Order: sequence, then structure tokens, then C-alpha cells
Amino acid sequence: GKSGYDHYMLKEIHEQPTALRKCLRERVSELEHEITVEELATLECSGSVQFVACGTSYHAALYGARLLRENGISAQCFLASEYDAQRIPITDETLVVGVTQSGETADTMGALRMANQAGATTLVLTNVVGSSAARECDHVMYIRAGPEIGVAATKTFVSQQAALALLSSELSGSEAPALIKHLRGLPDKLQHVLDESTAQAVAEEFVDADAYFFIGRGYNASVALEGALKMKEITYKHAEGFAAGELKHGPLALVTDQTPVFALVTGDTAAKTIGSIKEVEARGAPVIAVTDRPAEVGQYASHVLEVPDAGPYLTPILANVQLQLVSYWVAAQLGRSIDKPRNLAKSVTVD
Ligand code: M6R
Repeated sequence: GKSGYDHYMLKEIHEQPTALRKCLRERVSELEHEITVEELATLECSGSVQFVACGTSYHAALYGARLLRENGISAQCFLASEYDAQRIPITDETLVVGVTQSGETADTMGALRMANQAGATTLVLTNVVGSSAARECDHVMYIRAGPEIGVAATKTFVSQQAALALLSSELSGSEAPALIKHLRGLPDKLQHVLDESTAQAVAEEFVDADAYFFIGRGYNASVALEGALKMKEITYKHAEGFAAGELKHGPLALVTDQTPVFALVTGDTAAKTIGSIKEVEARGAPVIAVTDRPAEVGQYASHVLEVPDAGPYLTPILANVQLQLVSYWVAAQLGRSIDKPRNLAKSVTVD
């Protein structure tokens, strides 16, 4: 059941601290400053990495690819439906990583099969034990989020991001003590976001808008995409997410005093994103900053949704939770079919 929540989506948003703890259990040890993912013990990666995924899982993959590059591994990210192993250079050193909650998405399965035929090693990050992807790939890493009923992916996205942080450490052999410390602290910080969030009030104030924008840079660019996807699918409102630097290359023409802009302002990209905030503010747009530095950012924003600092790689995971809550409360105000949005299915088994 929904354990007293009106929707599975809200229940699953609140299950995220537990989902994270399950994902990290026995994989991150503070005492030995070690990250060990048992399933990956036999995985070797000497070449480059290609991620394939769809929808929310694609946004997690974007985040993962960036983390790998940050750790010195060459990594690219592809929409599974656009992946073409015939034209993308693959050698037997290439590792192709599918990110799929269900392990059944037809486009992702198709891409993984193509990669396998082209001679790549395949790894899947999935939530479902015994799924097609788990059976067919050379290696499997479970994200351990537990069953997700809502069509909108929430806790599985967070678990995918955490699993990708573990993967980046495993593949690069870099066990940054700071990352380990921040990973271990993440479940409690996420709980803090859930306890203190003022997202419902923000949602109520902006529920009548016709369109919403989401901007961020670096790790926050993938969070911006995910924020917009969640808003579209459960509220049926127009939403766009993009890398903040792209604003002035087109989307800025759409910004008026009627378009709330959610700006993700964390980490070393904060200063540049504040520059983007000024661009939209000058057009009269209300700015909702999601940030770990309210004192610095507050003066540029009409509203602040605060998140604790969890270091440069993980704070964006917390920022995303604020956006999940905003979308949820906008959809709830509008009386939408939140757990089963029109036209959508939990698992897309046709390509
Ligand atoms: O099961 P998968 O992770 O492969 O599913 C991919 C997408 O269909 C999925 O992430 C979809 O975008 C979400 N349900 C949206 O919330």
C-alpha cells in the first residue's frame, strides 16, 4: 500500500534515504576508506566507456559519464534509441554500460545487444533481479532501490546516481576519502531535505504558470533535464531543462515574467549560473534557486530551496529531490493522475 501517502510517488520520494542506504550497504566502508562493489570484482575496463539509456535513466547516465571523465576515464553517453554500434567505434576494450531501472526497456536492450555483437563488454545497472538486461549482460550491478510503483522514476534515479558514483570509483581505482565521507552522509542529508523542504509552498505559488524552465551546469545540467521531464510527465505542463550556458543561444527568447525559472546553483559552477540567473531576472522571470549557499544566491532569487552541502559530486543529487517535490505538489494541486500519467507506461517494451 501507500503507507498513508496520497500517491506512490510521494511515498517513493520519502523512501529515498532508505533506498540510498541499501545501495551503499557493504559497498562503502568508512573505516577502511574503501569502496567495494562485489558484483564488479571481475570487471576490467582498460578502454573507454559508453553509456546507453532512456528517459530518467539517461539523465542518470549523463551524470555518470561526467563523473567517469572527472576520474580520468573517457566516457560518452547515448540515448539508447539513437545508439548505433555500427558507426560508433567499438573495440573489445570498450565497456558499454546500460542504465535501466526495469531491465526491460526495448531501446536499451537493443543497444546492449548491438554492443555485445560488436564485441564490447556489457554491464547493466538495474533495479530488477532476473530482468532481461540482468540475464543478458556480461556484468550486473544492482541499484537496490526496491520496487517502484509510480510511473515517474524518483527513488530509482537517486539510487542510479549513487550506484554510478560507486562505479566511477571502482573503474578509476580512485577512492577519494571526501567522496566516501559524502556518500555515507548522503542518506541523512536527503532526509533533511525531505523534512525541511518548502517546495509545496513554491508549487502553490507557481501552479498557474504555463511553462517552467530548469537550468544548471555540469552535474546540474542533467538534474535540470530530469527536473523538466518530471514536471512534464506528471503535470502535463510545458517544461524545458537545459545547460544554463545555452540560455542565450535561443531559449532566452521564451523567458518572460510568466515563466518561473528553477536554477540549480551548487558546486564550482555556482558563479556562472548566477550569471544566468541575472539574464532571466532582467526579463522579469521569477527565479527559484536550488542551492547549498543561500546567503550568496538569495539576493538574486525570488525564492530559495535549500539543500545541504554534500560536496561537488553529490549535492546535485539533493537538488534533484527539491525538484521532485515541486513537480509532485504542482501535479497534486492540479489533481493529476500522478502515479499513472496519461499515455505513459512504467516499462516501455516496444521500440
Ligand atoms: O526502466 P528504464 O530505466 O529503462 O526506463 C527508462 C525510461 O522509460 C524511464 O526512465 C522513464 O523516463 C521514467 N519512468 C520517467 O519518470
